[in-house]
Amino acid sequence: MSATRSLVAALSSDLLQPLRISDATRAEIEKSLTRYPNRRSAVMPVLWALQLEIGWLPPAALRYAASVVELPESEVFGIATFYTMFNLRPVGRHHLQVCMTLSCSLMGADRLFRHLEKKLGIGHGETTPDGRFSLRRVECLAACGGAPCLQVNFDYHENLDEAKVDRLLETLE
Ligand code: FES
Repeated sequence: MSATRSLVAALSSDLLQPLRISDATRAEIEKSLTRYPNRRSAVMPVLWALQLEIGWLPPAALRYAASVVELPESEVFGIATFYTMFNLRPVGRHHLQVCMTLSCSLMGADRLFRHLEKKLGIGHGETTPDGRFSLRRVECLAACGGAPCLQVNFDYHENLDEAKVDRLLETLE
């Protein structure tokens, strides 16, 4: 089966999958909606609540978010693809996000990223076959004073070099 056909098959099967989310997430979404003067303004927290539960945002979650906040699906898709905090495919247990913006770039982010690519055998947007690591380039993480900066899931690691990254990887099961 070609790559295009397998992608179409995957998306088609997703279209048939009902979205199962917990009562807690539904409650969190309802709470988000009350914080804004209109539903559409809650699109970011709604997407975030869905991602926290599912781990990523499959098409069914994007459609669900669109229906909840009453926005066209295309607009919700545009938002989810614009912000790198949203995952449009499953990610590994440790999501390594390397800041590539100016301060980090000047302080060696490119070298660091290439080191991670070589060490893990994956590139931008990819996950190791064992599901342990995903790797991604991202824009400024707002930790410019600690450049170069790497975000691992919700934790920041700053002032990194290759040796520090190697030691960090050893601590991540
Ligand atoms: S430039 Fe990397 S955290 Fe701001």
